[in-house]
Parts: sequence; C-alpha cells; structure tokens
Amino acid sequence: MPTMLALHGTGGDENDLIPLAKMISPTSAVLSPRGRVLEQGMPRFFRRIAEGIFDLEDLRLRTGELAGFIADSAARYKFDPSRVVAVGYSNGANIAGSLLLSHPGVLAGGILLRPMVPFEPDTLPDLSGTHVLLSAGRHDPLIPPPSTERLKTLLEGSKADVTLTWHETGHSLLPREMEQAARWFGQHFS
Ligand code: MLT
Repeated sequence: MPTMLALHGTGGDENDLIPLAKMISPTSAVLSPRGRVLEQGMPRFFRRIAEGIFDLEDLRLRTGELAGFIADSAARYKFDPSRVVAVGYSNGANIAGSLLLSHPGVLAGGILLRPMVPFEPDTLPDLSGTHVLLSAGRHDPLIPPPSTERLKTLLEGSKADVTLTWHETGHSLLPREMEQAARWFGQHFS
C-alpha cells in the first residue's frame, strides 16, 4: 500500500487529516507534517501575501523542504519513496499541487481537496502515471472555480491522469466526497 502524506489546511495541524487518510486507505502508513509557517499563530505550509495571493519565493522554498522531508522520512521509516500519495486540504492541497508541478516523481498521486493553482510553471513537468483527484466546492468563497479548472489543465498538460469533481458546497468537506475519495483511491492504488 502507498504511504499517505497528510497535509492540513490553514490553522490546522498534523492530527487533522489522519482520520481521513485512514478512511481512504486503512492499511497505509500516514506521514503527517505540520506546516512550518505561522500566519498570526496559524500553521500553514507556505506564506501568503493576502488571501489567494501567494509568496512564490517562500512557496518554492517550502515545497523543496517538503520534498526533502519526504525523502528523509522514507529513509528513516523505511517506506517506498516512489509510493507516496498526498491527501491535502486547502493550503495542504495547494502545497501538494506545488509538489506535483515542481517535483515530479515525489508523489505517485494526490487527493487535493479545495485546490487552486499554487503557481504558474514556466515549463510543465512530466507527470505520466501520476493519478490526481481534485475535489472542489462550487460555492467555495476562498477557492475561485476557474483556478481549480486551471490547475486541472496544467496537470493534464503535464500528462497526469486527473479527475475533477464538483460538489454543491463551499469550503468545508462533505462526507460524500470523502467516500468518493476513498473509492477513487481504491480504483487507482490497491
Ligand atoms: C491558501 O492560502 O493556500 C488558500 O488560500 C487556501 C487557504 O485558505 O488555506
């Protein structure tokens, strides 16, 4: 089974997504870091200048750090670094998107819940064989739907296998979409 990389949202911590990761893949090990940036006391995975406007230099740096953390953890805990699937929510989904676009090969796949474009790459990576589920809320006040659509386009342009699902909700997750994520995972990774 792949190792699940759990990536929380702004203001969350490493405990938040463990139940979801376990629901999606009960027998997987879960690697769950806490974001290293604090925004008014709230942990995040990279800095932002304003809501939805990212500090791209910090994003680049933090994405590299996270890739290094995954490699170091694989050596330390003896899991296969070529079989890591991210499950990220909101800010966690956005750093997962950044990992996919800037460090191809680090993730075998990703479940990105409420994602947007983290940055516009100059050149697209080769993500052949990488499976990505994007799960979006049609009425999300924080994540503009065109940005989720654009992320899908970027990932497909990178040859990833992408599934985008829309839900009649806002930024919070619905039980139904978590069940859908578990089914999607079973189809692609077991
Ligand atoms: C971000 O900053 O990554 C997005 O705006 C989502 C969030 O609020 O965390």
